[in-house]
Amino acid sequence: MEQLLALEMVRVTEAAAIASARFMGRGMRDEADQAATEAMRQTMDEADIAGTIVIGEGERDEAPMLYIGEQVGRADHADMAARVDIAVDPLEGTNLVATGQGGALTVLAASERGGLTNAPDTYLDKLAVGPVAAGCVDITLPPAENVHRIAEALRRRVSDITVIILDRPRHAELIAEVRSTGARIKLISDGDVSAAISCAVQGTGVHAVMGIGGAPEGVITAAALRCLGGELQARFRFRNDEERERAVRMMGTADESRVYRTEDLASGDHLVFAATGVTGGDLLQPVRFFGGGARTHSLVMAYQAKQVRFVDTVHMFDRDRPPAVRL
Ligand code: FBP
Repeated sequence: MEQLLALEMVRVTEAAAIASARFMGRGMRDEADQAATEAMRQTMDEADIAGTIVIGEGERDEAPMLYIGEQVGRADHADMAARVDIAVDPLEGTNLVATGQGGALTVLAASERGGLTNAPDTYLDKLAVGPVAAGCVDITLPPAENVHRIAEALRRRVSDITVIILDRPRHAELIAEVRSTGARIKLISDGDVSAAISCAVQGTGVHAVMGIGGAPEGVITAAALRCLGGELQARFRFRNDEERERAVRMMGTADESRVYRTEDLASGDHLVFAATGVTGGDLLQPVRFFGGGARTHSLVMAYQAKQVRFVDTVHMFDRDRPPAVRL
């Protein structure tokens, strides 16, 4: 079931990636997001699932589709075996697509009912590491201490560690502290999901992600890192009372001191994760269009099956004039 679901889900992220990649560099972030959302919704409805969106484009009154609570898929919701919860970020990195920069993904995570935290649209302070440094870090410690712990776990000099941080004024102190350790920093304008997954994939040259980013993105990241054996630690950071009240309604608590771990945010036993590159980054290649088709690059994972697939797909748009498939 998990493996079939994984293959159905990658079709969904691929369709969304192709649709949104058409907007690359055109300065149209909302249109790119809408194209991804519509393609995701349409392809999801072709899948043999009885899905419920638990993280999506907003509340029912804010978003026309893929809103929280929306039912998707063609299976009967009375069929318990077909029921899945789905967390989507149809286009993670809308600005990156609008400006033609790397790192944008279409991404989703799925699990049995209740396996993904229904996090409100607020912020999380995050610390993400890969499998080797998992268990060695503690978000309640100063960032410099964590950098040293990561270096020790990876048996590297601190100066050979690269930390990704979102380039935001709120991170001035964090950046200064990480710089003081001598570690290398990659400041990114957007896209902390791709960055956090990169920590858990050797060869990307990324060893940690630190700082405050979106909470819904945090849940999706946790699902990916559980599949990869990495670790995410996080604490909620609310911007106002409305967000606090929403957190209490959705999760029963708004405790900013509580540390959420990977398995708190994505607790499911049957987790599936799928992401497709829209613009190329450390992790995935971009959508490449050619006469009569496009090629996509995706990461698809199933937790129980312990499978991580990089999927390279050629999509033929025109069956009468199929393009030559290249290696
Ligand atoms: P969007 O795709 O919704 O634009 O989000 C991109 C992103 O950079 C996330 O990767 C990150 O978690 C969040 O926005 C950071 O939020 P903010 O831009 O408010 O600092």
